[in-house]
Amino acid sequence: MSNFTAIIPAAGKGVRLLPYTEHMPKTMLSVAGKPILGHILDQVESCGIKKVVFIVGYKKEAIEEFVRERYAHLDVTFVEQPEPKGLGHAIYLAKDAVSGPCFILLGDTIVDGNLRPLVHGGKNAVGIKPVPDPQRFGIVELKNGKIVSFEEKPACPKSDLAIIGAYSFLDSARLFSALEEVIRSGKTVKNEIQLTDALSVLLSRGEEIVPVLMNDWFDCGTVEVMIQTNRLLLSRHHRVPAELEKNNKIIPPCWIEDGVKAENCVLGPYVSAAYGAELKDCTLEDCIVGPHTQLDKKTAVHAVLDKYNH
Ligand code: G1P
Repeated sequence: MSNFTAIIPAAGKGVRLLPYTEHMPKTMLSVAGKPILGHILDQVESCGIKKVVFIVGYKKEAIEEFVRERYAHLDVTFVEQPEPKGLGHAIYLAKDAVSGPCFILLGDTIVDGNLRPLVHGGKNAVGIKPVPDPQRFGIVELKNGKIVSFEEKPACPKSDLAIIGAYSFLDSARLFSALEEVIRSGKTVKNEIQLTDALSVLLSRGEEIVPVLMNDWFDCGTVEVMIQTNRLLLSRHHRVPAELEKNNKIIPPCWIEDGVKAENCVLGPYVSAAYGAELKDCTLEDCIVGPHTQLDKKTAVHAVLDKYNH
């Protein structure tokens, strides 16, 4: 077991995902058979981490309920961020709950690859990936393979290498001290205290932070991108319980979680259904079905269907 603590900031609403975030925080929206948070916690566990600190805010009850129901074996702490003051502020709030090394995975970050080299590489590390629209992200500048600067959402990016939202720190006390410096200086970007600025402080203090290329990072920023990510993940992972194949026509690839009920449906290609979903006489293609969603005689293509929107 690892001595790392995972910090998962998940306090945000996700306004670009309305109306789906009207009733749930963004991290609870489903992709490929489970909430984004489920993918995150599976990653955390596959890195051998059992201690998890969640920074919660908007609709925090939904997160707490999901974690207590489905990840009861983890040692969890929930810390509330009462106001949306930025990612740097959110992480700083974890200060009293974390000591030793820490791994931060943002609440909207899906990585379909091995994060162990990033977490357990023995160095401070940040996951990166080239993107077509670097202005939207935190950016790293490399010289001879080393990070020489960080910048949050720059108007003129020095590179196309985006920070994907996975970070590993050997000593959380040094990270919190860097965050404290940012907070004391009053620096904000887009009115928010930024984690990226604390990374710059660590660099200026002579700390090494190594870049780890993570090509298997998937964004879930908009509904359109969520559906694309769902398609991509399903093209890599087809899973359908055997008994569902008998009573339905399944066109692969699909991801139907155990316990989903389906009868007389045509599902696929690219249909995912999360735990507790119940489908009857439906024809779905390229769709995401969220947890506990009941659909009867529904025909849909290219859609997100959840308990509240279908
Ligand atoms: C945050 C980080 C940014 C990073 C991004 C990844 O931004 O501040 O550095 O590139 O996550 O998704 P946000 O998406 O919260 O605006």
